[in-house]
Amino acid sequence: MYTPTTISRVDTSNAIGLFDSGIGGLTVARAVHKLLPQESIIYFGDTAHLPYGDKSTAAIQAYAIKICNVLLQQNCKVILIACNSASVAAYDLVKEYVGSRARVMNVIDPMINYIGQVHSKQKVGLIGTKQTIQSNVYKKKVDELKAGIQLQSLATPLLVPMIEEDFFRNNIREGIIEAYLSREELNQVKALILGCTHYPLIKPSIQNYYKNAVEILDSSEIVAQSLKGLLEMHNLTNKSGKVFQKFYVSDFTQSFETSTKLFFGQHVHLEHYPLWE
Ligand code: DGL
Repeated sequence: MYTPTTISRVDTSNAIGLFDSGIGGLTVARAVHKLLPQESIIYFGDTAHLPYGDKSTAAIQAYAIKICNVLLQQNCKVILIACNSASVAAYDLVKEYVGSRARVMNVIDPMINYIGQVHSKQKVGLIGTKQTIQSNVYKKKVDELKAGIQLQSLATPLLVPMIEEDFFRNNIREGIIEAYLSREELNQVKALILGCTHYPLIKPSIQNYYKNAVEILDSSEIVAQSLKGLLEMHNLTNKSGKVFQKFYVSDFTQSFETSTKLFFGQHVHLEHYPLWE
């Protein structure tokens, strides 16, 4: 849920800044671009420090502040933390740090609002990195809804490397997915939250596992909808007709650039932007 704060006067043609531990957050950027093609995007992938899912909270917070400085220097009107692990570890700190300089969003609150509306009194599953699951942030937020939702969480750390290594197009994928989803923790769920930016890429396999009997909740689409609402509510929609996209990474390799097509749906050019010089 957003807490309205007084924000300094902004040029509405300024970009939406998104950041993630790497290129997985491009699934969120893709959903944002699809729903809001009139908006400019500046994306920062902290490829020098991925994965965030195994890092300490303190480390993720330090990276997040560095990245926010980059996005603020580029006058982003909204900073969207397009990573579950960073949303868990650094959202409160980033919001405080950014203050009135930009709106700040995470990928968790829009999902919590959605399940509060659609899945009250039901058993809902959540899969994500160790950082996301062990933090218990989803559980706390769900309990605050007081909607009678029983959240069943499971850390699924093998899924990110499996997707990154492109092992999600063969039967190893099905075996790993089945091994996780058949665990007792996820028994009888009515919906499953994909609590990691990489997981939309394996949504069809997950749907297949559940034979379409469980709603698979892809946060990228829900987050994009929520961003649209935020822009409209605060008159921040870009009406200038000028649109640009920039994609930065803190460490450049050719394989990151090649993988962008997988996550963003089209090839993008990555610019190297070292965080510590
Ligand atoms: N982007 C991270 C997330 O959504 C997954 C990858 C990582 O562990 O850095 O949790």
